[in-house]
Amino acid sequence: MKILLTGAAGFIGSNLAESLLARGDEVCAVDNFNDFYSPLRKEKNILAASEHPNYRAYRADIRDFAALKEIFEREQPDKICHLAGMANVRYSIEHPLLFEEVNVRGTLNLLELSRLYKTEHFVFASSSSVYGGRPDNGVPFSEEDRVDAPISLYGATKRTAELLAHTYHHLHGLKVSALRFFTVFGPRNRPDMAVYLFTRAIDRGEPLKLFGDGSARRDWTFVGDTVRGIMAALDNPFAWEIINLGNGHPQTEMDLIRAAETALGKKANIHYLERPATEPAITFADTTKARLLLNFEPLIPFSQGYQQFFEWYAREGRQ
Ligand SMILES: NC(=O)c1ccc[n+]([C@@H]2O[C@H](COP(=O)([O-])OP(=O)(O)OC[C@H]3O[C@@H](n4cnc5c(N)ncnc54)[C@H](O)[C@@H]3O)[C@@H](O)[C@H]2O)c1
Repeated sequence: MKILLTGAAGFIGSNLAESLLARGDEVCAVDNFNDFYSPLRKEKNILAASEHPNYRAYRADIRDFAALKEIFEREQPDKICHLAGMANVRYSIEHPLLFEEVNVRGTLNLLELSRLYKTEHFVFASSSSVYGGRPDNGVPFSEEDRVDAPISLYGATKRTAELLAHTYHHLHGLKVSALRFFTVFGPRNRPDMAVYLFTRAIDRGEPLKLFGDGSARRDWTFVGDTVRGIMAALDNPFAWEIINLGNGHPQTEMDLIRAAETALGKKANIHYLERPATEPAITFADTTKARLLLNFEPLIPFSQGYQQFFEWYAREGRQ
């Protein structure tokens, strides 16, 4: 398969690219290497993949329709795997226009080009953030739940992308799988996420800023599991599906802090801060649908995944 992969230099994208290449797929990698976090980190993420003869890298911005069109024209991909996006919930509050441009218009550009170039299948990264604060719905989060009350700009842009993708499915027959990822972690972790931030704070002996009292729970999902789920979605072109890709075993933020303390052999200096309105008390994936449709089984429990994250962090993730 020839797959146009956006966000290919990022955390999940670079892990996915290597797995796709390893099984013989061709990867047309698109990324703009923006400086939301260090572009050097992204360059490093793609070092191994770039050596592969089936990997072609395009430095392009998904907001630039003309640039994307040239790539579609040249590559005529079989499938789109769209992971590029602006992804930090708190950053989205300060930069709403940027999040709308990238996550909404950028996705629309790719949907429209998929229509023009008759691409058969569109798989993209949505998020557990679409579930919002969920005062009524309880847990776990099911794809059947109402998702019309987002509590962050980021969540709203991801839900908007789902709605646009559904429209392209309905009007133009594009086959679409919207994958709702749940707090992914592991080697090449995004440096703005709690797993990385907490570990670094303890490592450096700096104050660890904790929103709330540590009882908030996250359904941390190991990146290798997420990657396997994405590949299964690419292999199963459903007409239209929204699928949770989570672990189904939420842990508290205090569990994460304890895991980091143990790995580092140091105590955290926790600074408790008020939990902002953007942060749900829990994320928890109902993975029934992923099991049924994709045969998806999360294999790596949190403690084991943290160990793998930490090995990467200690080896090359510190800077
Ligand atoms: N990591 C998670 O826990 C998580 C959870 C839910 C959803 N997601 C979604 O999964 C996707 C990948 O997330 P990630 O954690 O790997 O993030 P990441 O920031 O590491 O990767 C995203 C990549 O997209 C690229 N990008 C951003 N804007 C772009 C643009 N305008 N044009 C081209 N490239 C652009 C970035 O340079 C980056 O390399 C994102 O869409 C994110 O919203 C991630």
